[in-house]
Amino acid sequence: NSTAVVTVETTSVGMVARVNTTYRCFSASPVIVGGAIVTFSNVTMEAYMTGDDLSPNESVCTADQSFTTAPPPPPSTTTAAPAPVPTPPGTPNQGSYSVSNSNGTVCLLARMALQLNISHFSASQNKTIQEVVNLLPNQTTSSGSCDPTSATLVLTQGSATNLSFLFTLNTTSNRYHLTGLSVVAAWSDMTAPFNTSNSSLDYLRGSLGRSYMCSSEQTLAVDQSFSLNTFQLQVQPFGISRGQFAQAEECLLDQDNMLIPIVVGAALAGLVLIVLIAYLIGRKRSHAGYQTI
Ligand SMILES: *[C@@H]1O[C@H](CO)[C@@H](O)[C@H](O)[C@H]1NC(C)=O
Ligand SMILES: *[C@@H]1O[C@H](CO)[C@@H](O)[C@H](O)[C@H]1NC(C)=O
Ligand SMILES: *[C@@H]1O[C@H](CO)[C@@H](O)[C@H](O)[C@H]1NC(C)=O
Ligand SMILES: *[C@@H]1O[C@H](CO)[C@@H](O)[C@H](O)[C@H]1NC(C)=O
Ligand SMILES: *[C@@H]1O[C@H](CO)[C@@H](O)[C@H](O)[C@H]1NC(C)=O
Ligand SMILES: *[C@@H]1O[C@H](CO)[C@@H](O)[C@H](O)[C@H]1NC(C)=O
Ligand SMILES: *[C@@H]1O[C@H](CO)[C@@H](O)[C@H](O)[C@H]1NC(C)=O
Ligand SMILES: *[C@@H]1O[C@H](CO)[C@@H](O)[C@H](O)[C@H]1NC(C)=O
Repeated sequence: NSTAVVTVETTSVGMVARVNTTYRCFSASPVIVGGAIVTFSNVTMEAYMTGDDLSPNESVCTADQSFTTAPPPPPSTTTAAPAPVPTPPGTPNQGSYSVSNSNGTVCLLARMALQLNISHFSASQNKTIQEVVNLLPNQTTSSGSCDPTSATLVLTQGSATNLSFLFTLNTTSNRYHLTGLSVVAAWSDMTAPFNTSNSSLDYLRGSLGRSYMCSSEQTLAVDQSFSLNTFQLQVQPFGISRGQFAQAEECLLDQDNMLIPIVVGAALAGLVLIVLIAYLIGRKRSHAGYQTI
């Protein structure tokens, strides 16, 4: 929304194609690039060409597949035997990530355990499956950028997974939230790399000068084929000082979980009070009894 020329940079725009194929994506695909959302549409392109023309073999993006080839794939096999559900990967490990300014100042901090839930066509099972994969923090690197009203965090796990988070700051209300999430996944059982994004999300809402914390599991639904499960999350995309998290604002889920111990504690305290009062009354009575004798 700027009339000026804006330069943005990213390590990935989610266009992945096999060598000797043309990348094709007719659908409008919003991609998080730096602090901006760039929408690509009607794309056909090829890198590392061997001839003078685009290769007739195509790598079709996920968005196009879902409205052209999605109806054909489940012709008969989908009604066949229920294929074995992949074993769930267990709770993911927490990773610590940060983004620095060009002058080396930390401007975004995140601690979180992430689990991706992608619906894709399985090469081995020859049908659409739901695959749940944990992000491995020790194989994941972080990058990104910070602008006055937007901040991007890009997590890259080798060449398998690339996740981008876009946070925006509302300067009127001084509150921030997660607006955009995009993913590129090239997992072993996929027939083609998976990519999707949504830039109209409203998750992880926090106040400027505070961090957002949610220890409970949260599911961030991105679209029908992708959702992200977060655990033990703390994030602060704006207003970092001295490279440390500011005071945390706890999510409602955590507050609800806190409520149970509080209720139990209050009940126990009440019980102790009742016993104490009963004891005092009893003592007073027996004391009074002694006096009359
Ligand atoms: C960006 O521009 C569009 C069209 O000009 C407008 O509808 C929208 O409200 C603007 N958004 C912001 C955040 O200024
Ligand atoms: C791509 O095509 C070129 C020329 O036809 C061939 O030499 C090369 O092996 C191909 N690469 C792959 C990965 O198929
Ligand atoms: C996959 O399923 C399709 C449609 O049922 C079938 O035509 C094809 O032969 C299957 N391929 C494999 C490798 O099983
Ligand atoms: C680094 O840059 C940010 C904004 O780009 C600025 O607020 C901060 O003061 C700078 N820090 C140093 C040490 O120059
Ligand atoms: C993955 O997503 C599917 C469809 O939204 C859902 O049914 C399933 O429970 C999810 N699995 C996990 C582990 O979140
Ligand atoms: C990463 O962590 C996992 C589980 O904690 C461990 O099994 C694996 O060996 C580690 N990999 C590397 C490269 O450190
Ligand atoms: C920013 O917050 C104000 C006050 O809550 C709200 O009226 C406005 O619509 C918000 N702006 C954007 C771009 O979301
Ligand atoms: C993007 O997210 C919004 C808000 O959660 C949702 O209403 C919308 O359907 C999503 N877009 C797609 C393409 O799924």
